Amino acid sequence: MTTTLITGANKGLGFEAARQLVAAGHTVYIGARDTARGRLAAEQLGARFVQLDVTDDASVQAAAKTVEADGGLDVLVNNAGIELRGEDNSVPGAADLTADQMRTVFDTNVFGLVRVTHAFLPLLRRSAAPVVVNVGSGLGSLTRLSDPDHPGYAYPGVAYPASKTTVNALTVQYAKAFPQLRINAVEPGFTATDLNGRTGVQTVEQGAEIIVRMAQAGPDGPTGTYVDAAGPLPW
Ligand SMILES: NC(=O)c1ccc[n+]([C@@H]2O[C@H](COP(=O)([O-])OP(=O)(O)OC[C@H]3O[C@@H](n4cnc5c(N)ncnc54)[C@H](OP(=O)(O)O)[C@@H]3O)[C@@H](O)[C@H]2O)c1
Repeated sequence: MTTTLITGANKGLGFEAARQLVAAGHTVYIGARDTARGRLAAEQLGARFVQLDVTDDASVQAAAKTVEADGGLDVLVNNAGIELRGEDNSVPGAADLTADQMRTVFDTNVFGLVRVTHAFLPLLRRSAAPVVVNVGSGLGSLTRLSDPDHPGYAYPGVAYPASKTTVNALTVQYAKAFPQLRINAVEPGFTATDLNGRTGVQTVEQGAEIIVRMAQAGPDGPTGTYVDAAGPLPW
């Protein structure tokens, strides 16, 4: 039996990935910072709930203890993420970016991922087939961001792409450090969720597919890669 934890799984891509992995036979933990919404999501899916705020050391430590006591972990999906849009769903451009905004985005998307990975690594290293999926973004690709022929070129925000480029760097370095783990970064594609005010063009079913596929990477599967549903992406 494969046990999987998905952070930020009470809604959006995390919730849908949880639904698909439960269907694939995984025992899934819905990690959510809000207990009521997390419990409800877990009940809907036949999953387990664990309170987990990726920005909070005590919460993450307690979640790791709970999952360890229940039998350990095989798959970690670092999915929780924020983009920080304005009231009108606009993305703050370079001229408006403050250090506080940058810190807020990195607290969740980068330091949160490191905090959760660090806390759950001892459990993963005891698994026979440990896997980490880091939910990145195509906006983390510097090649695409600097290519005028790519749609991502027009994205005006700074903090979010920088955070996802950092997720890519973390993926590469973690994958080298832990060759017994399969650790990959994935780009779900532009998906209609609360993150972007439902402006995304894909459904969550489509977006979650690559998360679910990489969560099922076997011991001989790829590691240190950056992929979307169609294959490898340029860094
Ligand atoms: N949607 C897209 O087009 C797209 C494209 C590329 C990558 N992504 C990535 O996909 C991931 C999921 O995003 P989504 O589109 O599904 O957005 P979403 O519907 O807004 O879901 C984000 C999830 O992250 C959770 N979260 C935020 N901060 C957290 C924290 N401090 N601790 C724990 N959970 C936290 C949210 O919980 P609350 O409900 O409590 O806020 C929510 O469950 C993110 O990493 C995002 O960057 C999305």
